[in-house]
Amino acid sequence: MEMPEEYVKANAMPRRDVLDIIEEFSSELSQIQDKCIDIGSGPGDITKDLLLPLLPHDVEVCTSYFTGADISQAMVNYARKNNSNERLSYIVLDIEGKMPNEQIGQYDYAMSFYCLHWPYDLSRAFENIFKLLRPNEKALVMFLGSHCLFEANVRLSQNPRYEFYLQDAHRYVSYFQRKMCKNMRASLRKMLEDIGFEILHCSKREKSSQYNNQQSLKNQILPVNPFLTRMPDDIKGEFMDNLISEILSQDTVSTPFESKNNELILKYYLLIAHVKKPQSAT
Ligand SMILES: C[S@@+](CC[C@H](N)C(=O)[O-])C[C@H]1O[C@@H](n2cnc3c(N)ncnc32)[C@H](O)[C@@H]1O
Repeated sequence: MEMPEEYVKANAMPRRDVLDIIEEFSSELSQIQDKCIDIGSGPGDITKDLLLPLLPHDVEVCTSYFTGADISQAMVNYARKNNSNERLSYIVLDIEGKMPNEQIGQYDYAMSFYCLHWPYDLSRAFENIFKLLRPNEKALVMFLGSHCLFEANVRLSQNPRYEFYLQDAHRYVSYFQRKMCKNMRASLRKMLEDIGFEILHCSKREKSSQYNNQQSLKNQILPVNPFLTRMPDDIKGEFMDNLISEILSQDTVSTPFESKNNELILKYYLLIAHVKKPQSAT
């Protein structure tokens, strides 16, 4: 996840899913004021193009701004250079780590799209989101509940050629997929309630994405593979080929009806939650 340029070129799927969520929650999001944070902002193009315009445009309300936060220094550097302005800045922040004092209770809205499948301890990540918010303020999150890519990495970790680089592959499986949760939505709801959030919305949705061929699938998953940067250059290409084969062997992959070309359809599940930190919380 240290490849901002490649991610920007291949993020059609997250962009489409973020747009859908913005449209669905548009009336809620139109009430946003003041200080917002986008957790896992990556290269910042979605933060700038899709989230920043949600803030009030009125020049009088010049106190409102967005902070993009990401664990990756490379992503933050790219975002600062290409997608920042006077109302949009970026910080390095691990949402699973200890929150810096100056960030606690600072935000009127927290968003996170396509990031929360990465933290190993998802509950801790949500506890931190709770800490970042002011009382009576909200968070909207969307992340992968399950995806065949995670399983493909785990399978390749058993291949002697790659096991050294993928020793912790299980750590990079989305939380509820790793726990083999039968009811992801109910488990997410309980996790959020236990932390103290009021649940405004919590859902699990089946989605699919279509690729023209294996190469376009490869282009999309390459920048989000956490293991590539550990490997010597000479095995990266064959690793990606084997990763694609592992993905294609799973039953969440199909070909479009009557397709004569090499198109692929991948099915995956998203988890979406809209929550509020109660007024009484400290
Ligand atoms: C797939 S990108 C999503 C970027 C953007 N939000 C979007 O929807 O396209 C996921 C981002 O989450 C970041 N990330 C992963 N684990 C994180 C953590 N523990 N704390 C903060 N950011 C994290 C990665 O560095 C990466 O930039």
